[in-house]
Amino acid sequence: MAAAPDSEQQSSVSMEEMVSLCARRGFIFQSSEIYGGANGFWDYGPLGVELKNNLKALWWQYMVRRRDDVVGVDTSIIAAPRTWEASGHVESFSDPMVDCRACKKRFRADHLEGVAPCDSREGTSEHDFTEARDFNLMLSTKIGASVAASADAYLRPETCQSIFTGFKRVRETARQKIPFGIGQIGKAFRNEITPRNFTFRSREFEQAEMEYFIHPSEQDKSFDYWLDQRERFHKGIFKEENLRLRAHADDELAHYCNNARDVEFLFPFGWQEIEGIHDRGDWDLTRHSEFSGKDQSVTNEQTKEKFMPMCTETSMGIDRTCLAVLVDAYEEETMEGGETRTVLHIHPALAPIKVAVLPLSKKLSEPAQVIAENLRKRFNTAYDASGNIGRRYRRQDEIGTPYCVTYDFDSEEDGAVTVRERDSMTQDRVPIDEVGEYLRIRIEADPWE
Ligand code: GAP
Repeated sequence: MAAAPDSEQQSSVSMEEMVSLCARRGFIFQSSEIYGGANGFWDYGPLGVELKNNLKALWWQYMVRRRDDVVGVDTSIIAAPRTWEASGHVESFSDPMVDCRACKKRFRADHLEGVAPCDSREGTSEHDFTEARDFNLMLSTKIGASVAASADAYLRPETCQSIFTGFKRVRETARQKIPFGIGQIGKAFRNEITPRNFTFRSREFEQAEMEYFIHPSEQDKSFDYWLDQRERFHKGIFKEENLRLRAHADDELAHYCNNARDVEFLFPFGWQEIEGIHDRGDWDLTRHSEFSGKDQSVTNEQTKEKFMPMCTETSMGIDRTCLAVLVDAYEEETMEGGETRTVLHIHPALAPIKVAVLPLSKKLSEPAQVIAENLRKRFNTAYDASGNIGRRYRRQDEIGTPYCVTYDFDSEEDGAVTVRERDSMTQDRVPIDEVGEYLRIRIEADPWE
């Protein structure tokens, strides 16, 4: 796992503003909040789930659907425990941990800067730390009713291992030849010692991973290619100044990794990783061949060469990227006349609600509702008839709705509505029977063109 160094540089929005907006508008809030929460676990509300689903759909579209050399899978969270011995996670997937003998709190030994002072020692606020020791990050559970050790299992700490264990079956059933890739989006779990920075470091999170299998001679070329691809993906949804690539130093590389670059985003707490691009070599397929006794190598049908494929991995955190989308989009803007608005400039492809229909007066509700119902067949559409029109625009701006459609008294006469665009606040008069197509062209615009 990569521990990117915190940077002095920070984004302009504070974490407090972000957390408050997320809770207030129902994007993301504490899990089991009424019981005081569960540390490191988060719930996505009605807007958050839309944002998350849109991000997953965008990734799937870009990485799987648009290509004929990548196929998708959806595998189980719990795998045969041998999987994690073979992958090296039982032995090596750990962070250094220290305990304070006085307050009994536990910390990551490499994250001690800025920790809260000890409140249990007389005459000093300094902690009384134990020696650092390794703490395995895998969350364990028991399968079935047995208490025997044979029933022990792990919740997967990364989604990719079942891509490796299913490699042969997927390749054969999808009739793919090397080079090809397998993508998956799913939950992963890590018993982080100190979950922090909102959803950034949590104990339950989602990953979007793709493992691309190549001939050994293509290893470097493939790494460079996927680095470019992933950079392009992120540039489609983020401001360029909030993105950078960072190469891992040798002592940072995970146990399976020969080479790694992080895609980093400028969070309120500095530059941090949202995705890793890894050269995993033949580590996984070789280890699974050894541990399962089932050879995972492939034979080139033409040349008859037998080889163990190498693998380039792209591994994006869905939750971290959602948080980055919100931070990137957030702006407190002063408008003409001095009024301020909070606005999320989210790309329309990711925006939770694509369009809000607003009748200028409650008297116009009936025809406005008909328009909303029609739009709802195509886009996630909100309908809001309460409060003055300015306030209603502000409510939509704050959650990133790219278009508002206003039905006014003239609409009765000219059969048209006003479409207001979130970022520029410009307004177009559009005939009602053309408004669906007007919005479609703009909402479905490709982020990468
Ligand atoms: N299969 C490779 C792998 O898991 P990683 O760098 O450990 O690599 C990949 O994780 C991505 O998963 C990270 O870039 C991050 O976005 C996300 N991730 C990892 N640990 C996380 C955590 N505790 N909370 C939220 N996201 C996390």
